[in-house]
Amino acid sequence: MKKHSPVVANFPHLLHGGDYNPEQWIRTPEVWDEDVRLLKLANCNVVSLGIFSWVMLEPEDGKYTFDWLDQIMEKMGRAKIQVVMATPGGAKPAWMARKYPETLRVNAQRQRLLWGGRHNHCFTSPAFRAKCDAINTLIAERYKDHPSLCMWHVNNEYNGDCHCDLCQNAFRAWIRRRYDNDLDKLNLAWWSNFWSHTITDWEQIESPSPIGENRVHGHNLDWKRFVTDQTIACFNAEAAPLRRITPHIPVTANMIGSYSGIDYFKLARAGDVVSWDSYPSYHDRPGDWRIASHVGFMHDQRRSMLNKPFILMESAPAQQNYKAVCKLKRPKMHMLEGLQALAHGSDSVMYFQWRKSRGGVEKFHGAVVDHYASPETRVFKDVAELGRVLGKLDGIVGAATQADVAVVYDYENRWAIDDAAGPRNPDKQYYDTVVEHYRTFWKEGIACDVIDQLSDFGRYKLVVAPMLYLLRPGVAERIERFIADGGTFVTTYFTGNVDESDLCYTTGFPGPLRKLLGIWAEEVDVIYDDESVPVVAGPDNRLGLSGTYAARQFCELIHAEGAAVLATYGGEFYKGRPALTVNQFGRGSAYFVASRNDARFQKEMFTTLARQLGIKRAIDGELPEGITAQVRSDGDNDFVFLLSFVRDAHTIQLGPGSYRDAVTGAPIGASLELEGYDSRVLIRKHST
Ligand code: GLA
Ligand code: ZN
Repeated sequence: MKKHSPVVANFPHLLHGGDYNPEQWIRTPEVWDEDVRLLKLANCNVVSLGIFSWVMLEPEDGKYTFDWLDQIMEKMGRAKIQVVMATPGGAKPAWMARKYPETLRVNAQRQRLLWGGRHNHCFTSPAFRAKCDAINTLIAERYKDHPSLCMWHVNNEYNGDCHCDLCQNAFRAWIRRRYDNDLDKLNLAWWSNFWSHTITDWEQIESPSPIGENRVHGHNLDWKRFVTDQTIACFNAEAAPLRRITPHIPVTANMIGSYSGIDYFKLARAGDVVSWDSYPSYHDRPGDWRIASHVGFMHDQRRSMLNKPFILMESAPAQQNYKAVCKLKRPKMHMLEGLQALAHGSDSVMYFQWRKSRGGVEKFHGAVVDHYASPETRVFKDVAELGRVLGKLDGIVGAATQADVAVVYDYENRWAIDDAAGPRNPDKQYYDTVVEHYRTFWKEGIACDVIDQLSDFGRYKLVVAPMLYLLRPGVAERIERFIADGGTFVTTYFTGNVDESDLCYTTGFPGPLRKLLGIWAEEVDVIYDDESVPVVAGPDNRLGLSGTYAARQFCELIHAEGAAVLATYGGEFYKGRPALTVNQFGRGSAYFVASRNDARFQKEMFTTLARQLGIKRAIDGELPEGITAQVRSDGDNDFVFLLSFVRDAHTIQLGPGSYRDAVTGAPIGASLELEGYDSRVLIRKHST
């Protein structure tokens, strides 16, 4: 296993710091010097600047005021603090909205929005792109040789869409390209003879709207694809001057948690490094570990996108201000959350925000520096302590993750499933189901990638693709090759129903996967949440499953067509019919799980499979529920993270190998006491 090169070429340290808004303190510039002093005290080495600075950099069209930013950059340079420089596109000035109203967004109801808020530009508007190009060019020219400039942060948390005339025209052009200018192809893809929806002229095409067309699934899917492409086009336009002027500086667009309005895999592939903003609320409650495993899932997805370390661009150093209950961060949570990010592949722990605003909607959002700007606050000390620990962990920079398992989470598939009417409305819980599958591996301390349908399956021993409803072009063939070459593939009910246009397969579900899975899915029964159907393990089944499990919500009625039956339904009118099958295909195996099964089934099926496939766990010892172990490696050393998201103390058996504490260097015995919410990083020799 090889180490990756550091994200910041000449700065091989974990980044620690975050969003800094000195323009809010322009009336009291003495605060700026105090900030530098405090940054050092907090063991921070990076700030993100300029995220919402547009009007302070360009107070009128074409009139630029860089003096304050020059001063800040100089201070950062002197203090040897790295700067993630943002382009200001995340919030446009009022003058721009007045002068170029086309930069304002139009919502799906076709109303032009007033100026205000943020993240509200039209992503097609030539005026917006031109203004971005002008200011981004100036910023890049001005700071291109500055020693602190380490990364470009383009815009902020791209989200939403725009339905203005410019966007409608761009959508039409996009549709024409997609369907080779052939209306018949379009009408087939959108199945538009239904309800007399046949399109007879390209001009009739509009974006989906609650006051117009919104029930044509192919149309909705194409709009979401267009929104992704148009967001990427805007990102590329904003990034163009940066790439031209500073080709050596990495460019990123920070992503939002589980936001699904953009195909984040596609956006990731357009940038140099993946970054994201993580805002879980750990509450010191029994369910914390479920939240933690979901955060682990998002981290792992970010790492898997470019198969290399990512940047945690934002997280809350203290309580948030926008959740229903904004509980304070409990003692130890800050260290735990920070090390958790590292454990899953982050090379940074960064925050929103450095200093609390005095006014505005985020004045109560946690910050490293409080309104009363003392380094003696609990939060400040927690941040400084994490910074001290990060300072001892340079070896982790670039360390890789070896995952033999991947769970497939695909945005196009999600859009299609969420849009499908029936057989269970409104929510078929695709996302939750994928996370639930991931959770089994998290609990076991098995490294797991989170990939989309277009990712390379060949890297893995086991690929788990729950509810693979929509098959993107070429994917069935790639799955077939993966299995034929010796891979193990698991899929479930609600798989292989539709093609990329959301048109149902007419060759029997699961469509092009039917042959390799060796089954035919004839019908799917959905049952009420308080009902369940027993699933009975078959005798001597190869997964060692035993007894009866409970299936909930989805029970697909399948026929084995060559696949071996490992479990059957134990109730309902489909009693005795297959519930779990496996088909040998080439050198590999393809499992089909016909129902949504309980936690015991998940655990037994996937831990057995992992064991049979020789998939390593992070440590040999058992992990109590709520404690995970994750590994990163530089090829010589493994960094083993032990993370407890439970209140009680537990003793963890590490198994063979000699361990030492990565921070203190102290040797560790064969076992380790973990108090509640403890987080530790250990080092051991890497073995293959
Ligand atoms: C997002 C934004 C930040 C800030 C935080 C608050 O991540 O990017 O500007 O609003 O949320 O949690
Ligand atoms: Zn628009």
